[in-house]
Amino acid sequence: MHTVEPIRWTREGVVLLDQRRLPGEVLYLTYTDYRELARAIKDMVIRGAPAIGVAAAMGVALGVERSGAQTLEQLRAEFATICETLARTRPTAVDLFWAIERFKRRFAELAAAAESGGPEAIARIRTALVEEAQQVHQERREADNRIGKFGAALLPKSGRVMTQCNAGALATAGIGTALGVIRMAVQAGHQIEVLVPETRPYLQGARLTAWELHEDGIPLTLITDNMVAHFLKTGGVGAVVVGADRIARNGDTANKIGTYGIAVLAREHNVPFYVAAPISTLDLSIPSGDHIPIEERSEEEVTHLGGVRIAPNVRAAHPAFDVTPARFIAAIITERGVARPPFETSLAALAGARDEGRGARGEG
Ligand code: MRU
Repeated sequence: MHTVEPIRWTREGVVLLDQRRLPGEVLYLTYTDYRELARAIKDMVIRGAPAIGVAAAMGVALGVERSGAQTLEQLRAEFATICETLARTRPTAVDLFWAIERFKRRFAELAAAAESGGPEAIARIRTALVEEAQQVHQERREADNRIGKFGAALLPKSGRVMTQCNAGALATAGIGTALGVIRMAVQAGHQIEVLVPETRPYLQGARLTAWELHEDGIPLTLITDNMVAHFLKTGGVGAVVVGADRIARNGDTANKIGTYGIAVLAREHNVPFYVAAPISTLDLSIPSGDHIPIEERSEEEVTHLGGVRIAPNVRAAHPAFDVTPARFIAAIITERGVARPPFETSLAALAGARDEGRGARGEG
């Protein structure tokens, strides 16, 4: 299945599709400095939890590849700075920290195996970290395909499916999580129309999901956020499927602001609410959603629209995410299978399973 590519490793540097410009302009930017790539993550050139993870992986690889370090000790010090810089970009998406931790482990292995601290050892570490970043990207793609297959089986054969924000190819660097589920269902013959809330204030629904689905010829209707209740009550919605930025041990899920409200409304109208996310989005170190840090973004993203002021000069709030309590979630779809309540046990089982671990509650 071919989808848009938000990020690519090339010899010239890391190429990002500038998502701030969509849908008006399809512009690719090439990054050769990890500090600029970190800024691009913060500024939402690339966004969406799994794609942020891929960007962080490529950012670390880029920093090491382009480092001027002459000795292993110099490289070690620079590596720590690279990781810190990337970790300071966006606090909620746990995939960012997952990728950085993975690179720390890999770096430690490579450094321990280096016979000398000289140029050959440094060259080997550079090559290995670039390969690791490409491997992370490849794993994201494979995870999306598997999430898509497991999730498609849960969607209605016909009718409407609602999503929120953009959990598509733009957000994962694969076929998407929530949109991957929808894509796989459509490919399997489901006659689905997607209801896309615009997702104020940053409009990922209107700008990105609507663009992505339209490009792929998947039927959609764009709605404003305040139409969600109306459509869940009257609009023949058979399921809601969304992505996630961080899932706590008990299944509480942080996702784009507005998701919690949709989940509560879905429960009221007996519409199943599904979360689709890779295992890397699980944060089993925290017991519940109360421990998830919520990113506060600029007030200007609320008071302005496309650079034009739409409100008087007043204070505005912009929590970028909210937490949906696990009790509103019918299932969490991962690449290792579908977790059902109680999530404390089902998620732990999936997290402990090997990647091939179909059968560990896999329903697909
Ligand atoms: O602020 P964003 O655009 O990075 O937020 C993205 C979301 O909330 C997505 O739904 C989530 O990251 C899942 S992406 C597969």
